[in-house]
Amino acid sequence: MTNIKVGQFPSTRLRRLRMKDFSRRMVSENTLSVNDLIWPIFVCEGNNIADAIKSMPGVFRYSIDNILKELENVVNLKIPAVALFPQIDHALKDENGSQAIDENNLICRTIKAIKQNFPDLGVICDVALDPYTNHGHDGIIIDDIIHNDATLDILEKQALVQAIAGCDIIAPSDMMDGRIGRIRNFLDQHKHEDTLILSYAAKYASKFYGPFRDAISSSGNLKGGSKSSYQMDVANSNEALREVAMDINEGADMVMIKPGMPYLDIIQRIKSEFQIPTFAYQVSGEYSMIKGAVNNGWLDSKVVKESLLSFKRAGADGILTYFAREIAEELQND
Ligand code: PBG
Repeated sequence: MTNIKVGQFPSTRLRRLRMKDFSRRMVSENTLSVNDLIWPIFVCEGNNIADAIKSMPGVFRYSIDNILKELENVVNLKIPAVALFPQIDHALKDENGSQAIDENNLICRTIKAIKQNFPDLGVICDVALDPYTNHGHDGIIIDDIIHNDATLDILEKQALVQAIAGCDIIAPSDMMDGRIGRIRNFLDQHKHEDTLILSYAAKYASKFYGPFRDAISSSGNLKGGSKSSYQMDVANSNEALREVAMDINEGADMVMIKPGMPYLDIIQRIKSEFQIPTFAYQVSGEYSMIKGAVNNGWLDSKVVKESLLSFKRAGADGILTYFAREIAEELQND
């Protein structure tokens, strides 16, 4: 700030530029556009299903046929990409999350259906085992420990089946060490060198994920109740830079910070340090807090846009948000 010529009152009046709409617009420093939005969607088995998620008012789990219907509007709105999250039937979950590497699993079938119908829509998929394990953790448990390297053996295969199904962006979200490098190598060996990797590089052990775990039915069974042996300590900031640096070295094309609004400081540090495409995830708990308050009339619905603009101010290139669709509609009418 030391180089800024501050000026002095009364010759300098900062309110002058704020007086009128035209001048406010002229000097506006950040804008939110539809290109900044990624819509996360929950997918489930069945036909013609739109299952309301109780802890996320206005968010549904859709069967594949209904996803295709919803996506028509998403494509018309020009939202660039969607992120898919599967709710796996309990009967198919096991200790090792073996459904994750089945090339006909729910997520692979969803990717194929989307790509057949909307080839130009970007598809992002999580690579992590938590939707598939009966203990709800993101990795394999050996002797009561979430085993890093045993998990990597499965993750690379999970990434490959998704890439083969047509996924554009692989998003490893489990915070195991070395996963980006292993997945990058494995994809390259199998001639998927053009599949992008968006690393959930700085992902915190946050309670803001609660509603998401309801949505994919992994909350009830989370053994030990916490993911803090692999996700980051919410008190840490320098560690986020190390995580990102390592992921860039291992081949990440883009990085993500998660959750979003409580971690704007992390987004800002990462963007200014690395200048890599940087994404923020406004997670389920953030959505539910805002939506709940708006639905109750406690907050004006304009807080949604304000929250998304805060990510842009912090330096994010894009935002995964459950508000993507409604905000895209609002932006169209602006
Ligand atoms: C799975 C995953 C989670 C989210 C995205 N991918 C949950 C978790 O790590 O427990 C959370 C998203 C949200 O809360 O909206 N690894």
